[in-house]
Amino acid sequence: MFSARISDLIDDRPDDGIFRVSRAIFDDPDIFDLEMRHIFERGWVFLGIADQARGPHDFFTTDIGRVPILVSRDGAGKLNAFVNSCPHRGSRVAQALSGNARLHVCPYHSWTFDSAGRNKNVKLKRAGCYAASFDAQNHDLPALPAFGDYRGFLFGSLDADVPPLETHLGEAAKLLDLVADQSDEGIELVPGAVTFTFHGNWKLQLENCSDAYHFTSTHPSYIRILEQRQTSNTKAAVKSVWESSDYWREDAKGVAGGSFSFPYGHVLNWGIFGVTEALPLYERAVALAERHGVAKRDWMFNMRNLSIFPNLQIAENASSQLRVIQPLAPDKTEMRTWCIAPKGESREARRQRIRQYEDFFNPSGMATPDDTVTYENCQRGFASRVDPWLQGYARGTTAAREGGNRFGELIDLHPAFSVLADAQLGDETLFRSYYREWARRMAGVLAP
Ligand SMILES: [Fe+2]
Repeated sequence: MFSARISDLIDDRPDDGIFRVSRAIFDDPDIFDLEMRHIFERGWVFLGIADQARGPHDFFTTDIGRVPILVSRDGAGKLNAFVNSCPHRGSRVAQALSGNARLHVCPYHSWTFDSAGRNKNVKLKRAGCYAASFDAQNHDLPALPAFGDYRGFLFGSLDADVPPLETHLGEAAKLLDLVADQSDEGIELVPGAVTFTFHGNWKLQLENCSDAYHFTSTHPSYIRILEQRQTSNTKAAVKSVWESSDYWREDAKGVAGGSFSFPYGHVLNWGIFGVTEALPLYERAVALAERHGVAKRDWMFNMRNLSIFPNLQIAENASSQLRVIQPLAPDKTEMRTWCIAPKGESREARRQRIRQYEDFFNPSGMATPDDTVTYENCQRGFASRVDPWLQGYARGTTAAREGGNRFGELIDLHPAFSVLADAQLGDETLFRSYYREWARRMAGVLAP
């Protein structure tokens, strides 16, 4: 039996200004197992967006922790989510990442299910010499005990004992609104999912998305290219939004952005970009202000890296990326990524979005490879227990405030904690939200 206590893993002493995290939670196999069972498999997990199963019988597959999941729209247009495992022998039924199927046939013994998960056929049933009790059993695909749709963002839980999805998302739902409201037609994933793995713990990705401190040190080649593009006379192939922002400039003055932390482990770090034509949303700037007000429109133009604990990230910085974090092992993580975009944008805006996306994101972009190499460097360092405590949760301690600030007020956003930052701060207190939720979820399993 695993004997660590939570206080051996998360050292959270607000009165002393101390917050430290042990290396053990990043590489210990027993802890990973507990995370899968108690964080991923017993709480709300992001599944995908409704538009991934747009029409009748459209489906996509994903996972909650180690459990395969099928999300399917039935013939009547209703979205359902099931455990993607045949009640017969347990095989995964749907194999494809996405598609359209009225019927899903298990590849093992051909038990067949319709798009509403109902068992339609047990192969050679009449010849099967089943007892009458067999017919009394439910042979359908088991529906997820909890399944929720917040404005097209789909979440599921393998345990019915979860707070309502609205409670889980809380104020952070308003940050999903900033994505969903960019078009009255809704949002979509640009065709071309990119999936990659790195040899590092899943929480490295969780942290990196919220980590303003690393940008200038981990991505120097990208920053040098930005500088070259600004000084060269040749017209850059890709207009980058960073060029119009002070967010990454170490000599920038004044408030450059900040962070918000929310209950249940959700966080946002953000920066001021301004309403700039460097963003493809610029063509809608006037219409969005008329529809939603200037303040909300301006927030849509801000740099926003949003994490919905434990596995969803929406990064709207150099371009717009939706990421699903899929832990595979203590030291292996799969990233499933898409360019997310408002429906109905012009061809020119979509082109700009995709070019910016390629420029920055994914194994072929200029930022993601820097990050994933860094994760793997961290993972190697986590092997040490000479001093198990990591010191990377301390920046911003005296800047963190309970509640919100004037920037959040603009969109009626009320976080649990907030930080206003200049370009040098690189707040790390927002990570605490992840680990306080981590500790809360582990509280029933590990001694305090
Ligand atoms: Fe990075």
